[in-house]
Amino acid sequence: MAREFVHLKVRRQDNPNSQPYWEEFKIPYKPNMNVVSVLMELRKNPVNAQGKKTSPVVWECNCLEEVCGACTMLINGQPRQACSALIDKIEQEPIVLEPLTKFPVIRDLMVDRQVMFDNLKKVKAWVEIDGTQNLGPGPRFPEKIRRWAYEISRCMTCGCCMEACPNVNAKSSFIGPAALAQVRLFNAHPNGQMNKEERLQAIMGKGGITDCGNSQNCVQVCPKKIPLTTSIADLNKETTLYGIFGWLKR
Ligand code: SF4
Ligand code: SF4
Ligand code: FES
Repeated sequence: MAREFVHLKVRRQDNPNSQPYWEEFKIPYKPNMNVVSVLMELRKNPVNAQGKKTSPVVWECNCLEEVCGACTMLINGQPRQACSALIDKIEQEPIVLEPLTKFPVIRDLMVDRQVMFDNLKKVKAWVEIDGTQNLGPGPRFPEKIRRWAYEISRCMTCGCCMEACPNVNAKSSFIGPAALAQVRLFNAHPNGQMNKEERLQAIMGKGGITDCGNSQNCVQVCPKKIPLTTSIADLNKETTLYGIFGWLKR
């Protein structure tokens, strides 16, 4: 029998301090829908499964092609992007949508991922430049490094790895796998190497690399297949060497 509805069960929260509650919806099915397009249909006509008018469900999206990370949420318990979650490929219904649990909820499925951007600042995840004038082509990476550096550069700060990491939680200040991988990327960059020591120092303190328990959950959920655990292992070596020999340079 042809499918008539997409059955959603959404964990809703009206504001950052209010109690969450569940609401179910039945949205008319169309071929090739994804979770974002279902939520867009719902926004046009916010009526719940009991036929009662309700407030539209709030969520974030931007690129609609799994590049910006904004639409990341829990879909049937898995952290992933709503824009690339095709309805026809989701087996369990009702489809349960929840906000990520490691970030403060702003409203419904929208969370505040600011901590990830703060962590990138802590580790100077950028390359310093002299000015905004045309500086010409940048230096070339050796091919062997370029391959993995490109993989890491695809991080979209989506938060899936933070969600899956048991060591990222309300009691810890662990900066998490995404920012650590960016340290490896910018320390490998021919110009970024200028701030290599500052980055290593930043991850050697509280909330840094020693807070990783090597459970490997992060690498399994990363939608961009970023070599997170390899990067963390590499940084473990780098920080150990820096801890032993770094003082020689002072
Ligand atoms: S390997 Fe480290 S960063 Fe990745 S999930 Fe485990 S504890 Fe978290
Ligand atoms: S490392 Fe992967 S899972 Fe983590 S924020 Fe970046 S893209 Fe998302
Ligand atoms: S809207 Fe950008 S990743 Fe989904």
